[in-house]
Amino acid sequence: MHKIFTDWQPYHNDLFGEHTVNLGHSLADSGLFQDDALADLIERTPRQSYHVSTMDPESHDPRSRREGMIDGLSGDQVLQAIRNGHIWLNLRDAADYNPAYGALLEEIYRELEERTGTKTFKQKMTILISSPNVRVGYHSDVPGQTLWQVRGTKKVYLYPNKAPFLPPADLEKIILGQAHEVSLKFEPWFDDHAQIVDLEPGRMLSWPHNAPHRVVNHDCLNVSVTTEHWTSPLRNAYGVNYANGLLRSWTGAKTLSQSTQSATAYPKLAVALAHKMAGLQKLRRHRFNIDFAVDPNAPLGFVDIPPFELGK
Ligand SMILES: [Fe+2]
Repeated sequence: MHKIFTDWQPYHNDLFGEHTVNLGHSLADSGLFQDDALADLIERTPRQSYHVSTMDPESHDPRSRREGMIDGLSGDQVLQAIRNGHIWLNLRDAADYNPAYGALLEEIYRELEERTGTKTFKQKMTILISSPNVRVGYHSDVPGQTLWQVRGTKKVYLYPNKAPFLPPADLEKIILGQAHEVSLKFEPWFDDHAQIVDLEPGRMLSWPHNAPHRVVNHDCLNVSVTTEHWTSPLRNAYGVNYANGLLRSWTGAKTLSQSTQSATAYPKLAVALAHKMAGLQKLRRHRFNIDFAVDPNAPLGFVDIPPFELGK
């Protein structure tokens, strides 16, 4: 019994994962994204499972991004701050604090696997609650990704997953942890080559692997879900790009095949695996400077606090 996708056609079986698809979904029917459910989830979510962030509302300059904290507020007060302010809240690990979110994630992937015939693994869900007009800058995600709009509307710009939009060397650096995913260079003329979608509640988007994208909220509170997953082909592409990143840094090679089928693919996968297993790749250390606290009474939804460092 398929309940998640509301307008999936047989031809989507072949499109999904390879091309951009925009499909109807029933996530809102779960009741898990109404204010009361979200307020409850916010109250259950401990420090290590959320990020709350802001960016200069005038310049939208990614370098103005700041990280904050939630302290002594009810879930309703946090929602009020997001609704009236300029912040966004990422809730990870929702299944750990309410198993109904885990059941929904399982349902999504069970249906996707049945429809596409592709096995997925390492599925994750993030719930994103964001203020009116908030933006997410140009970036590329490493795993397979989908974006589900549940409340509010956002404009999504999707770009081809090839140079010059995604130079292989830049993707390799992101995969090797040498660069942040938002470090990709963006040029305004890229928009002439973008697919631009006003994503309404009840619609979801899936795009080709690693395709760069950016997002601009309409003037309303947005509640969205992102899911990520891996498949064997995605893992092989990751391995080849990982090895190419190493080969490029060792040999200075300019052109390296991204094919997962060529004669060099298997040695590359072996190199990537050996390197990863040996722990030779220094893991990027995540440390966050926390310098604001969410406050529903402040005009932007937060107040400045004395900065402190938080490890992850
Ligand atoms: Fe993304």
